[in-house]
Parts: sequence; C-alpha cells; structure tokens
Amino acid sequence: MKHVFADLGVMPISNNFLTVDQLSKPEPFYPLRASVDMDTKLVQLDFPLRREEMFNEKYPYFSSQSTTWLAHLETYCEEMIERFRPQMVVEVGSNDGCLLQFFKERGSTVHGIEPSASVAETARKNGIDTEISFFGAGAVYGPPADLMIANNVLAHVPNIDNFIEGFREALAPQGVATFEFPHLVNLIQKNQFDTIYHEHYSYMSLMAFTNILNRHQLRVFDVQEISTHGGSLRVFVCHWDAKHVINYSHLAWIYDAEYDAGLDRPEVYQGFAEHIKETKRALLDLLIDIKRDGKSIVGYGAPAKGNTLLNYCGIGKDFIDFVVDTTPAKQGMYLPGSRLKIKHPEWIEIEKPDYILILPWNFKKEIMDKLVHIREWGGKFIVPIPRAEVI
Ligand code: TYD
Repeated sequence: MKHVFADLGVMPISNNFLTVDQLSKPEPFYPLRASVDMDTKLVQLDFPLRREEMFNEKYPYFSSQSTTWLAHLETYCEEMIERFRPQMVVEVGSNDGCLLQFFKERGSTVHGIEPSASVAETARKNGIDTEISFFGAGAVYGPPADLMIANNVLAHVPNIDNFIEGFREALAPQGVATFEFPHLVNLIQKNQFDTIYHEHYSYMSLMAFTNILNRHQLRVFDVQEISTHGGSLRVFVCHWDAKHVINYSHLAWIYDAEYDAGLDRPEVYQGFAEHIKETKRALLDLLIDIKRDGKSIVGYGAPAKGNTLLNYCGIGKDFIDFVVDTTPAKQGMYLPGSRLKIKHPEWIEIEKPDYILILPWNFKKEIMDKLVHIREWGGKFIVPIPRAEVI
C-alpha cells in the first residue's frame, strides 16, 4: 500500500544550473512527489526522471570543496584500515577521488567508478584509477574487493536492486561494503524536506535497506550514526555466509529509533506534509519582515537542496540579491527556477549584506566560522532548516 509522503509541486532539476544565455529561454519543470510503500518501507519518487534526462557531463559537484567533508573522509579511511585492513578498495561514485587518495597514500590498491567525466578526470589527473561509468550488476572487472564504498550514492540510483546485485558480484567472500546515506528518521524529525529532489530517487531507512539486501544474499552486520548531511547512517554489509560478527546492540539501537519515529506507521509519513508547509510559512514570515525593514539578504552556497527550498518557497530576487559558492564551475551560473546569480564569495565583503541565508545547512558551522567577520558590519545568519532562525 502506497501513501504520499511529500508533494512539492513542480520543480526544475536541482543541479541544472543555467548559463546567462539560457536566461532568455524556458526551463522544464517536472512534478516532484515522493511516496512510501508500506510493504517495503521504501520512500521513492513517484515520477522518476530518466537518469539521462538529468545527468550532466559537467556535474559541478566536487567533494573536496568542504574541509569538514575531507576530515570526515580521512577519519573514515583510518577506521576502515584499522578494522578490516583492505588491500583492494573500490569506491562507487568516487567523485574527484579524494577519499580513494587517502587509501592509496596508506598502501591500498584503489579503483574508482564515477559516471561524471569532469570530476573523474580530476581524479585521474591526481593518479586515482577511475572508470567513467554507472555501477550495477555486471559492472566490475578486476580482483574482488575487500572493501567497497558507496557514500551518498544510494539515493542517486534509479534501480536499487540492480545496483546492490553489483555489490554481491564484486565483493570478495569475506569483503565488507559500507553504505552511507542520510537517515530518513532525520529527514522527518528535522524537517529536511529540501533534500528531496529529482536526482534523489529514494530516501532510506535501515528497515527498507535490510529488505533490499535480503533479496541479494547480503546482510547488515553493523551500523553507525554519523553527523554528515544532517544525520546519516553508515551501514556495514557482507555476504550472508561471511564470518563478520553481528553487532546486535548497534543494530537494535537504530531499529528502535526507527520504530520510535514511527517508520512502520503510515500516518507518520502522511503527517510530514504539514511540516513542510509550516517550514515554508515560517521562512517566508521571517524573510518578509526582514525585507519590510529594508535589509539586504544574500544566499550562501548553491547546493541542490537550496534549489528545492527556494523554488518550493517561491523565493527569488524579490528576497535574495544573489548567492555565493566556492565551486568555480558554479560561479557565473544561475540557479534553476529562481534564477539567482551565483557569485564568488568575495562578493560578501563587497556588498556587506545584512543577512546571509545558509542554504547548505549541513555545513552551517563551517560556514559561520568562516564568515564570522560579517558581525563587524552587524551581519547575521539565517538557517532555514529545521525551522527558520536568525543566528
Ligand atoms: P552539499 O550540501 O554538499 O550538497 P547538495 O548539492 O547535495 O545539496 O552542497 C554544498 C554546496 O555548498 C557546494 O556547492 C559547495 C558549497 N560550499 C561553499 O560554497 N562553501 C563552503 O564553505 C561549503 C562548506 C560549501
């Protein structure tokens, strides 16, 4: 039985940044709605777009833009080496190779699989063996992997069964696969509805993921809560008959959290709609007051989630003068839908806005630390999620 979880109307594709020439042209909008299937507890988009329709060869996302993120990757690498001592490490969605670099420096043989040519080229230039392709059943060649990594890729996969089958095929008999994904419990409890966009086909819980793994003779033997992307899970997976010992207390902790959050009850999913609407009203109330006061607002960051937030709330040039982002490939482009210009962060010092709206709220601490000097001109931060607040 299916129930609607979030209906965000029609939206442009979030990572479809526009060039100045495209501003005079129309832009496609597609329905964006997610539902839960109560039989499998999997939350997925109702009207998935074909990957080819969204996929951008010049994908402008480079993992190494954030120091918080790089520190997270290095710690992960050290933990995995200490715990599993992997020789052959394969990463799916290896981006610019920044994680595999850490493994390579510590003596592992590494192989990256990354569909976006632009970021994969950067990895290759840095000496990381990278294959430019999507991953799935039948995809891997080379020796079986001792460690397979899929950080923040599950949501991007239209056919999860085919994807997971690829792990069963490529993983060594005693190998370990780790999957990191934002936890659905946080999406619901912390109102992170802006992480819903067309490029994210699914929104995962441990319950739903366990059901998928079962269909491919794989099992979960450990799980950790991690702070990335507003609260994620790192799930440790092996073959059914591998020797890895189950960490029952860790698993019970997460399953209990999911039952406490009501992930087995349809009304919890159905009730989310009202939270989304209220988040919009609260943010608009705040921005309207600020603008009536004659103050200026600039957006910080051009993340995909920012485009869901701005477009769903109807926030454009009427509230925000422009946004800034450190990613060179995004600078000079325009946000899809809202068409706000993306500038270099130096424009904050030039314009000295009264307020900075932090769109990648998952990095709010790093961003506020970096921009602490806006206090000199009385500048303040607005954090929109979980509920609009001025800091
Ligand atoms: P992110 O939250 O990773 O992604 P998503 O696109 O999945 O919603 O995006 C972070 C964006 O914020 C990315 O474009 C880089 C930018 N950014 C900065 O410009 N400066 C910073 O200090 C940080 C941490 C991020």
